[in-house]
Amino acid sequence: MEKIKTAVLVSGGGTNLQAILDAEREGIIKSAEVVTVISDREGAYALERARAAGAEALTIPFKTYGREAFERELSAALEERGIGLIVLAGFMRILSAEFTAKYPDRILNIHPSLIPSFCGAGYYGLKVHEAALNYGVKVTGATVHFVNEIPDGGKIVAQKAVYIRPEDTPETLQKRVMQEAEWIIFPRAIEEVAAKLRRSE
Ligand code: GAR
Repeated sequence: MEKIKTAVLVSGGGTNLQAILDAEREGIIKSAEVVTVISDREGAYALERARAAGAEALTIPFKTYGREAFERELSAALEERGIGLIVLAGFMRILSAEFTAKYPDRILNIHPSLIPSFCGAGYYGLKVHEAALNYGVKVTGATVHFVNEIPDGGKIVAQKAVYIRPEDTPETLQKRVMQEAEWIIFPRAIEEVAAKLRRSE
């Protein structure tokens, strides 16, 4: 049976992408195949990681294209490659309702908090951890969810909690949430969703 052709969308360093590529190599992900990695920014380090793993690395510069043309180019690239699953791994753009409607239950995102806390427009990257520390919560974590027209509002697939330590800074917290939660639950959630898609095809 064919694997689900998967595109990973990135914007930055790509440690989640790396965890996904490693999981594929190790056989933790066996129902999905990362066929392309697409960045909305030129020179994102994630693209180096894609190339090093032998995956295609593309850039569709959001700043040059603007949202409409970006999504048009993205849709064309996904259709050309027969993509059945889209994974947002540190992708820092909000996709339009028109775009997300084309891929119901086929776009996954990782968010570095326990949704519905510290999520939605404006909550991304380090800002999420700053907000958690400012609020004083003692437990945070990461969430994998389907992407729909509401930012961080789609159905939750997986979550893992991480305890906050009194000495945490946004940077130390970000790192621990990645190590203890994101890099573990994301590959597993991708496998779970891809396996289901494969059974239904
Ligand atoms: C990760 O912590 C990811 O959860 C977060 O940005 C970081 C990207 O790191 N994503 C968001 O905030 C999306 N709203 P990475 O490029 O090393 O995977």
